[in-house]
Amino acid sequence: MRTKLKQNIMRLLIILLIVLSFSTSFANYGIKLAEMPIIPKPFSVVSGKGSFKLSDKSEICLSTSNIEVNKIGAFLREKLRPATGFMLPVVESADQNGKNNIYLVLSQTNSVLGDEGYQLTIGASRIEILANKSAGLFNGVQTLRQLFSEKIESSTHQNDSWIIPAGVIRDFPEYSYRGFMLDVARHFFSVSDVKRYIDLASMYKMNVFHIHLSDDQGWRIEIKKWPELTATGGKSQVGGGTGGFYTQEQYRDIVKYAAARNVMVVPEIDLPGHTNAMLASYAHLNCDTKAKTLYTGTEVGFSAICTSKESTYTFIEDVFKEISEMTPGNYIHIGGDESHVTKLEDYIPFVNRMQGIVAKLGKHVIGWDEIALSDLKANSFVQYWGKAENAVLGVQKGAKVIMSPAMYAYLDMKYDSLTPFGLNWAGYLDVQKSYDWIPESIVPGIKRENILGVEAPIWTESISSMKNIEYMAFPRIVGIAEVGWCSASTRNWKEYKLRLAKQGKRLKVLGVNYYPSTQIAW
Ligand code: ACM
Repeated sequence: MRTKLKQNIMRLLIILLIVLSFSTSFANYGIKLAEMPIIPKPFSVVSGKGSFKLSDKSEICLSTSNIEVNKIGAFLREKLRPATGFMLPVVESADQNGKNNIYLVLSQTNSVLGDEGYQLTIGASRIEILANKSAGLFNGVQTLRQLFSEKIESSTHQNDSWIIPAGVIRDFPEYSYRGFMLDVARHFFSVSDVKRYIDLASMYKMNVFHIHLSDDQGWRIEIKKWPELTATGGKSQVGGGTGGFYTQEQYRDIVKYAAARNVMVVPEIDLPGHTNAMLASYAHLNCDTKAKTLYTGTEVGFSAICTSKESTYTFIEDVFKEISEMTPGNYIHIGGDESHVTKLEDYIPFVNRMQGIVAKLGKHVIGWDEIALSDLKANSFVQYWGKAENAVLGVQKGAKVIMSPAMYAYLDMKYDSLTPFGLNWAGYLDVQKSYDWIPESIVPGIKRENILGVEAPIWTESISSMKNIEYMAFPRIVGIAEVGWCSASTRNWKEYKLRLAKQGKRLKVLGVNYYPSTQIAW
């Protein structure tokens, strides 16, 4: 009798084990589209029945052969290739009936999707990304990447079924400007570092790369008419390293690389303060015509280009002209922050003139919030970072605002007191705080319609390697990407942090040195 009982218990246990293992494998296989941990969260996701399987017979089919769409097809092929080992052909094809293909369809029919939105339909035998503009197709492709297992991000061949669940995603951004800034002046970063940062940020549909090209500690862009800027001003950085600069060819290469990822480059030459590197390069830019010595410390607010000399404006016109010719985007950033040794009565006419120079080049000015003190031109943009009353003044003068509140969006702020580098003058910025803010609720007097978008800057006084940039930027930049993409009413920290935990696997495969915050159950 006792043996019989034992046998029955054993049988029951075995059945239980079989049922359990079936149900977990079913759960893995059966994950629905609406349960996928996509970041930023799409506007709407409807799960369908069944799934799509990518195979070595799949093709990437383009509805239109235009250069932009071709590039997006090639981008998708290259992102899928290393892990799958599939060299998917990119073909122009009106035939919509091929098996297991991915169709990229440009069609100017869906007004809700706007310039950057897309509709991604996954069926058992085909995937279609439909968009009004190529930017929308690109965003659809970035979402599609996240639907495969994280192995898809590997640079080496992986075994996987490459199955994704069926359904329909409709998606478009809340804000048209979703930026990330890198300070390459305090410490210089190589072209390949910059490209990696652009590639990673664009995964999360960020679309503006603001590059801080000049500051007291270094000048980072070749200007043919004024070669000492790089010959002298490019040779220093914080702590006394060798610095560096981008040749015009390298800068154009960065611009092209960014454009292929739906990222516009916004170059910044910081004026009239933060100018020691240029003042060391050319004596005549100083009111006393004495060249400054190179600076490798981290103080701010001590330098000023001479605003009372006509030759200063000739110099600036030349610099902006060359930069503007290399920059297809609409904006030039003129800095304007912390100009503590330029008197207000000199600062205001100076910023007014900068706006005229930039307008003549066919571009719009962006400046840090202090530029709101000037007579803002229509189409000048104020980037709020520190002083709310400046940002409000900018809005009162008719400008739109880019929201970069230091206490929520500065990625060089330490996570907590244990963070080994970074600063804390705007407070500690943990992962939750960097996600859990609402652009239109930050400053009384600045409403949704006054805001162009959001930007996450990273200043590099204390950050000197790409590994450390990644540690400070990730995972916070992922959350700020969602702040820019999703309306506040659709965001929720408790739900987001579950998606972020899963996203961590993807970051790991990509080799991103992210900060493993204990706020996330990685
Ligand atoms: C700034 O952080 N000085 C714009």
